[in-house]
Amino acid sequence: MTTQIKSLQEYKDTYKYSVESPKAFWKEQAETFTWKKPFEQVLQWNFDEPNVKWFTGGKLNITENCLDRHIETRGDQVAILWEPNEPDSPAKTFTYKELLAAVSKCANALKANGIQKGDRVVFYMPMVPELAIGVLACARIGAVHSVVFAGFSAQALADRVNDATAKMIICSDFNKRGAKNIPIKTVVDDAIKLGCPSIETVLVHKNTGDSIEWSGVDKWWHEQVDPQSADCPAEEMDSEDMLFILYTSGSTGKPKGVVHTCGGYMVYTCYSFRNVFQYQDGDIYWCTADIGWITGHSYIVYGPLLAGATTVMSEGVPTYPDPGRFWEICEKHKVNQFYTAPTAIRALMAKGDEWPAKYDLSSLKLLGSVGEPINEEAWHWYDKHIGKSKAPIVDTWWQTETGGIMITPLPGITDTKPTYASYPMPGIQAILVDKEGNELTGNDVEGLLCIKFPWPSMIRTTYGDHSRCKNVYFSAFKDLYFTGDGARKDEEGRIRVIGRVDDVINVSGHRMGTAEVENAINEHPNVVESAVVGYPHEIKGQGIYAYVITQDKELGDDFRQEILDVVKREIGPIAKPDKIQFVTGLPKTRSGKIMRRILRKIASKDSSNLGDISTLLNPEVVEAVKDGALV
Ligand code: WT7
Repeated sequence: MTTQIKSLQEYKDTYKYSVESPKAFWKEQAETFTWKKPFEQVLQWNFDEPNVKWFTGGKLNITENCLDRHIETRGDQVAILWEPNEPDSPAKTFTYKELLAAVSKCANALKANGIQKGDRVVFYMPMVPELAIGVLACARIGAVHSVVFAGFSAQALADRVNDATAKMIICSDFNKRGAKNIPIKTVVDDAIKLGCPSIETVLVHKNTGDSIEWSGVDKWWHEQVDPQSADCPAEEMDSEDMLFILYTSGSTGKPKGVVHTCGGYMVYTCYSFRNVFQYQDGDIYWCTADIGWITGHSYIVYGPLLAGATTVMSEGVPTYPDPGRFWEICEKHKVNQFYTAPTAIRALMAKGDEWPAKYDLSSLKLLGSVGEPINEEAWHWYDKHIGKSKAPIVDTWWQTETGGIMITPLPGITDTKPTYASYPMPGIQAILVDKEGNELTGNDVEGLLCIKFPWPSMIRTTYGDHSRCKNVYFSAFKDLYFTGDGARKDEEGRIRVIGRVDDVINVSGHRMGTAEVENAINEHPNVVESAVVGYPHEIKGQGIYAYVITQDKELGDDFRQEILDVVKREIGPIAKPDKIQFVTGLPKTRSGKIMRRILRKIASKDSSNLGDISTLLNPEVVEAVKDGALV
């Protein structure tokens, strides 16, 4: 197993060593895994192309490290503990032995359906064990998985399937979310109708069994998987072979496929899981994320299984059947580590202190937060009402592109301070720079967050478009990975991540490109132009504020609804604007660029000081936009 830091001194020593001798440090961690063939070099890299290779020459299969290597020592230990949507339905468990058998059967079914090493398989599923099993089955045979969050629309799904030229989609019939049964297979059908020429098979997992339509490409999961042998050899993968693609939003319209590879991702997710959550044998660990996002990949599936943990996977929503559901599950399974998002904490905080008070939460040893800045009020509520001031909070900063947690307190080891993600993990050389890229050394500074040395689980490329990867992350500043986030350091060097400095907004921990939402709105025939910005939202962190220019001034609530429908159709319900303001013009620079800074201020009800607007092409529209602002 990768090492586990136990004291502040050990953290400081390890950090120093990892920066002074990164190759030696990561070599030692990597050697704790099962390699089919040992690696020859630890790291080759340049940030110009960029070209980053970890553990070159090494051959492995990540599922051998997640499953096979645990069979002897913990074969009968629960690997996945699945808690269903309905509280009265029994939880389902898979021991490591059972999980290996289930993954092998599914892997054999994929092969029987023509899936080979390197082929892409898209998942569109609720949080059922079959999703984790299917993802691991891909890894077992060297197929590349790409999980699409099952809240995205048919159009968004089709875009991702086509970008990845996937051969297969694996979906469920329905998604149980609270009291609702959401049809999922229908969305896949619609995506196929929009055109997914590369798809040969749709494998359908029967979740509710409600009736669905059936077509020539469809096959039932149980008919394909159940008869297969429970033995499937693990494909030999190169350390730098692709493990998965995960689509995420950027500042341009088209989502990009972030590519992670086998060796480095394995080493870093295991190392960070063991250290950030201080997992001990016998602990029950629960991360409430969805596997449709990176948090679910790294800290529900891969990290915990690599570390031989018991990982809880829950199907439902935090407020069904009531807002005590999370705490009920914590009590029921005696959860020791609990990892969730600030938006969930704020939503549950708003429901009242009486909900957590009903349950015995004494098993909780630590609490985690991820996905967006956690505000002070939510931090204190989480600490007091959930952790009873005894469970340290780890506010973990990272990104889809970083693969694993980068900046975080270590519970019980480094101190915690509300709203601060604190200190970088060993091996993570996080720095702040000014707009010119000069490093801001010392403490008590504010700037742009960059990383100046490779780490094993970093993004390798954006699928099918390497120049985009270079432009977005490696071109802002020479020899630095640019995160897109602004941050400050306090007097003692703790880092607080403030938020995005690009045109990306974070709504309930979901990342959205403003351009993506604008493109969707502009699909409406009566929309001339639109501009989308984020504004502070009490529960969601950021809300979506859309300024829309229309041809027809008489349009009212129906039109508003039509715009929401268009966004839902093009992206999904998560991207629907919270506020839509109809305007006659948008403030622009002389070169025609929309001045988002001004729009952001107006949307945030902070329009007293808009700065110099005299250089605008059309300064007169500013007053009109201000007057019509929605409060
Ligand atoms: C963006 C990444 C990390 C997995 C889930 C989201 C913001 C994330 C924090 C935090 C402040 C945070 C950043 C980052 N973010 N964690 N602890 N404090 N901001 O992954 O969708 O790739 O989004 O989320 O702005 O860049 P993602």
